[in-house]
Amino acid sequence: MWWLLAGCWNIQEEARHRRVWEMIDHEHDLYAARDALTRGDLEGAQAAGGRMAEKDPLPGLPNEAGPVLRQLREQGEALEKAATRADAADRLVEMTATCAQCHHAMKIPSPDGSIAKRTTDLVWLGVAFEDERLWALGVNALGSPPDQLGWPERRGQLAAALVPH
Ligand code: HEC
Repeated sequence: MWWLLAGCWNIQEEARHRRVWEMIDHEHDLYAARDALTRGDLEGAQAAGGRMAEKDPLPGLPNEAGPVLRQLREQGEALEKAATRADAADRLVEMTATCAQCHHAMKIPSPDGSIAKRTTDLVWLGVAFEDERLWALGVNALGSPPDQLGWPERRGQLAAALVPH
């Protein structure tokens, strides 16, 4: 019954592709919000938050990933409703802790630095995966000395760099 196996395989492949697509959206929306805030565009950041809040359910994700995904969507909603740019920057970096939580829970290997289109993407991938290597690559590319900070402090730095608090 090879066709049955082929069918299962296809469904799994399909689910995987949808997951990757949603991930590409997440990554894209994360950068869209970041770039909007860099331009001083609160509405652009809110719109990216709104897109993160309203995704369809993801096929093929294990049950334990469900609450984390819901949390991410709630954080997207909070970003959508952020009243000031400083508030939006805080909501955005908070969200990266949720990205990391799921990536760790599901043991997703962190991407190598080559998927970063810009050097600033590296520090964001660093916090989204809580990956020391990506963070160090990013900090180095931005010309700063290496640090020994914890992830909350690093997120605080990112938020403050994005919008002075
Ligand atoms: C509910 C779980 C979950 C959450 C939350 C989550 N991810 Fe992911 N992420 C995954 C999974 C699963 C993969 C691996 C995709 C695959 O190959 O199946 C992944 C992979 C990725 C990748 C690598 C894609 C590639 O091209 O290799 C990036 C980048 C990424 N996620 C960014 C993010 C960002 C940014 C956030 C937060 C805004 C986020 N993710 C939140 C589950 C999650």
